[in-house]
Amino acid sequence: MLVLGIETSCDETGIALYDSDRGLLADALHSQVDIHAEFGGVVPELASRDHIRKLIPLVRQVLAEVKLDLQDLGGIAYTAGPGLVGALMVGAGFGRTLAWALDIPAIAVHHMEAHLLAPLIEQEQLSSKQRPTLPFIALLVSGGHTLLVQVNGIGDYQLLGESLDDAVGEAFDKAAKMLDLGYPGGPHLARCAESGDPARWQFPRPMTDRPGLDFSFSGLKTFTLNTIHAISERGPLSEQDRADVARAFEEAVVATLVIKCRRALAQTGLKQLLVAGGVSANQRLRAQLKEQLDAQLIYAPLALCTDNGAMIAYAGALRLRAGEREPLGVRVRARWPLVELNAVAGPP
Ligand code: KG4
Ligand code: ZN
Repeated sequence: MLVLGIETSCDETGIALYDSDRGLLADALHSQVDIHAEFGGVVPELASRDHIRKLIPLVRQVLAEVKLDLQDLGGIAYTAGPGLVGALMVGAGFGRTLAWALDIPAIAVHHMEAHLLAPLIEQEQLSSKQRPTLPFIALLVSGGHTLLVQVNGIGDYQLLGESLDDAVGEAFDKAAKMLDLGYPGGPHLARCAESGDPARWQFPRPMTDRPGLDFSFSGLKTFTLNTIHAISERGPLSEQDRADVARAFEEAVVATLVIKCRRALAQTGLKQLLVAGGVSANQRLRAQLKEQLDAQLIYAPLALCTDNGAMIAYAGALRLRAGEREPLGVRVRARWPLVELNAVAGPP
């Protein structure tokens, strides 16, 4: 089945074509970074309006790339949450309506399930040694979520731990903003941290001194702000100061994530860790997980770590294959716990 995937939960319009037999055929992305950069964060109403402008041209573009047309589609998958309600409504309204007009099934996709499944899209290209077997542990780290889950099957997720306050990507973005590093902050902060001195400061590793798998990043954010204030009392921050703060922040976040992943693996006795979501693109995180954990690590290619339409098309294709269908109404959810999903039969 040829599935059109539509992602509009935040500030990227992602459109892709995934075919159950031939794999990922086309994947187009329009980033709204330029629109939101001057505000230092995503402006929801501007995001919705830009999705409206980009959806149809991107759908035309992916179909043209593979010389197919709307009549060739077998299903339409769209992100229905969690995310910005207005932005979600644009993609969901468009996707559900198009499916109705073409008389093909539609499927509402959970954005974090799609992130979780993204590393499996290019399965055919993985050796069997790299392919995960159920159950496995997943660390989902994005701008809105930080989750540790045991994956027993598609839709069968057991929550092991989550952030009690800020998501890890959000903490990266806020720390980057404090350092005037630009938006979106994560990649900018990571770049800046490269020239930082890791020995200058040791920032706290939140919630690692007690048992449990939950996270908290708001205290680390305050610690970062206090450090910046203390430096600026002596004068403006130098480039080196900025890099040192960025490095201390990144080291603390990465160390915290590594500790919790190690605990989750020990607690469950599992040996495979899938890491997904925007922050899984972070190279220091990848290096430290590799160095410190005795586990098989599974990632998506870098382009599929951050938001994209391919993961929505793929997650939707798996659920459509299992017989799931979305009724005619257009429903979206700003908040949507991953554990509320229905389990579907069959391996990913
Ligand atoms: O998954 P994603 O694209 O969108 C959400 O679902 O939220 O994740 C975006 C988040 C942002 O907070 C961004 O700063 C962060 O992922 N991010 C990174 C890196 N690349 C993206 N954080 C740290 N290092 C990176 N290389
Ligand atoms: Zn995302």
